Amino acid sequence: MPHQILIVDDNNVNLILFSVLVKQLGNCQERTFSDPLEALIWAENKPTDLVVVDYRMPQIDGLEFIRRFRQLPGHAETPVLMVTADSQKDVRYAALDLGASDFLTKPIDRLEFMSRAKNLLALQDSRHKLADRATWLADEVRKATSELVERERETVLLLAKAAEFRDPNTGAHILRMAMYSQLIGSALGLSKAEQELLLEAAPMHDIGKVGIPDDILLKAGKLDDPEFEIMKRHARIGYEILRESSSIVLQTGAEIAHSHHEKFDGSGYPDGLKGDEIPLFSRIVAVADVFDALTSARPYKVAWTLERAVAYLKDQSGRHFDPRCVGALLEKWDDVLAIRVRFGEQGDVAQGR
Ligand code: C2E
Ligand code: SIN
Ligand code: SIN
Ligand code: FE
Repeated sequence: MPHQILIVDDNNVNLILFSVLVKQLGNCQERTFSDPLEALIWAENKPTDLVVVDYRMPQIDGLEFIRRFRQLPGHAETPVLMVTADSQKDVRYAALDLGASDFLTKPIDRLEFMSRAKNLLALQDSRHKLADRATWLADEVRKATSELVERERETVLLLAKAAEFRDPNTGAHILRMAMYSQLIGSALGLSKAEQELLLEAAPMHDIGKVGIPDDILLKAGKLDDPEFEIMKRHARIGYEILRESSSIVLQTGAEIAHSHHEKFDGSGYPDGLKGDEIPLFSRIVAVADVFDALTSARPYKVAWTLERAVAYLKDQSGRHFDPRCVGALLEKWDDVLAIRVRFGEQGDVAQGR
C-alpha cells in the first residue's frame, strides 16, 4: 500500500510544489488541502503516514492544526513536518511542544524536503512493523495461555475421573457441590475470579479417597471407629497428592482437600482448626459438601429430605459450619433448587420442601 501523505497549505502554488515532490518520493499518495479545517475533518480515522503543514494560514495556524490533529484518533504518533519561515524560532519550540516531528524552512529546498520526508516515512514504517510485531506476540501469548488453561482443566477433570472410579459418590455429587460452593462464594461477595477458582478447585476435595481401601470406602453400612479413623486420612492424602503442583487451581484444590472436614468449633479433622483458622474456601466447601451428601443417597444412608437437611445446617451453624456460609447458601435457595433439578440423578430422591 502506498504511503498516505496529507499536505495542508493555504498557498496553491506550494500545494502543487509539494505534490510534485511527493510523486518523486515514490510509492506515495498525496491528499492536499488549502483549508486546514477541512483537512482535520478529512483526517479523522484516516491512516496517514506523513503530514506536511504550513505555519501561516488564515483559518487556523499550523500550531493550532497540530494541536487538533494530535487529538484525532489514530494520530497521536503520525509524523508531522511543519513548514516555517527561517526566523520563527519561538514558533518552532511551540510546535515541538505540540508534537511536530520535524521542520522545513521556506523557501523549500527540494533535496531537504525529500530527505526529511524519507526519514519520517521510514520512522513510520518501523513504528508500524513494531506495532504489528507486538500484536503478533500478544496473539501468540494468548494462544499459548489458553492452551495451558485448557490443559489444566483437562488435568483437573482427569483427576476427578480417576477418583470417581473408586468413589461411590457420583460425578453429579461433585458437580452439584462445586456449584453450591460457587453460589455461597458469590453470596459472600467473592470476586468473579475467586468464584471461578472455587468452582474449578472444589471438585478435588475428596481426591484423597483414592488412598482408602475398598472395604472401607465401599462399605454398605456404618463405619466403626478404626475404619472411620482410616477414612479420615483422605483429607491429608488429597493434600499430599495436589500440593506439589505449581497450578493455582490444583494448589487451591490441595488446600480444600486438606481442610474441608475441619469444623467451625474446632472439633473437625485432620488438624482441629477453628473459625477463621480454616481457609474460607474450605469453610464454604464444608457446607456445600455436607448439604449435598445429606440430600443424596449413600451406600450407608438414604437421602434426607430438604427440610431435614436445612434444619441440620441451621443446627450446626456455628458448630460444624461457619454461620456466614450457611446463611449464604440459604440466601441463594432458589439457585440451589435449580441446581438440584438440573443436576439431579436417578436413585436420588429429590423431595420438595
Ligand atoms: P460423604 O458421604 O461424601 O459425606 C460427607 C460429609 O457429609 C460427612 O463427612 C458428614 O459430615 C456429612 N454426612 C454425610 N452423611 C451424613 C449423615 O448421614 N449424617 C450426618 N450427620 N452427616 C452426614 P464425614 O462424616 O467426615 O465423612 C467423610 C466420608 O467418610 C464420607 O463422605 C463417606 O465417604 C465416609 N463415611 C462417613 N461415614 C460413613 C459410614 O457410616 N459408612 C460409610 N460406608 N462411609 C462413611
Ligand atoms: C498511525 O500513525 O497511523 C497510528 C499511530 C500509532 O499508533 O503509531
Ligand atoms: C465429600 O466430601 O463429598 C465426602 C466427605 C469426604 O469424605 O470428604
Ligand atoms: Fe471429604
